[in-house]
Amino acid sequence: METWDAIRARRNVRAYEDRPIPPEDLDRILEAARRSPSSTNQQAWDFVVVTERERLRDLTRVWNWASHVGTSAATVALVMPTSDDAEARETYQYDLGQATMSIMLEAADLGIGSCHASVGDQALARELLGLPGDRECPLLVSLGYPAEGPLAPIARPNRRPFDDVVHRERW
Ligand SMILES: Cc1cc2nc3c(=O)[nH]c(=O)nc-3n(C[C@H](O)[C@H](O)[C@H](O)COP(=O)(O)O)c2cc1C
Repeated sequence: METWDAIRARRNVRAYEDRPIPPEDLDRILEAARRSPSSTNQQAWDFVVVTERERLRDLTRVWNWASHVGTSAATVALVMPTSDDAEARETYQYDLGQATMSIMLEAADLGIGSCHASVGDQALARELLGLPGDRECPLLVSLGYPAEGPLAPIARPNRRPFDDVVHRERW
C-alpha cells in the first residue's frame, strides 16, 4: 500500500479473522517499531510479541477494554523502564507512542488491522509477559486481519474538521 493510503486506511480494528500473520510480516512490523525515532536516540523500549492463544486470552485481563487482544493473531506489548522521574516517563511514553504509530502504519501497509489496549493491571502484565521488575508495559497493540473485510482508505474519518485543528502561523 502507498504511505498515503496506509495513513487513510488505518483504523482501530477490534474483530479479527482466525488467521495467523506470516512470520516475515510480523517481523517487518517489529522492524518498523525498532526503526522509530526516540528522544536522543535512547531507544529505551522493548517489544514483546505474543502469538500463543492462551497468553493472548490471559492478556485481556490487564484492562477492561482489551478483549480484542484475545482474538488477535498477535499482540505487541510495548515496554519501557519504570521511573519516578516525571520527565523521563513522559519521554519514554512519547517514544512508545511513535513506535505504536510505526507498528500500526506498517501493519496497515500489509493489510493487517491493529488496535491499542491500555494496561491497568501492571502486576498481571508483568507476570504474563515475564518482564523484569524495572520494566512496565503501558500499552498493547493487537494485530490481525480485519473480520469485517480488508482495510481501505476512509473517505470521511471520524475526526475534528481540518480547519478546526490546523492553525496557520499563529493560533
Ligand atoms: C493511548 C491510547 C490508548 C487506547 N486504549 C484503548 C483501549 O484500551 N482499548 C481500545 O479498544 N482502544 C483503545 N484506544 C483506541 C482509541 O479508542 C482509538 O484510537 C480512537 O477511538 C480512534 O479510533 P480510529 O482510529 O479507529 O478512528 C486507545 C488509543 C490510544 C491513543
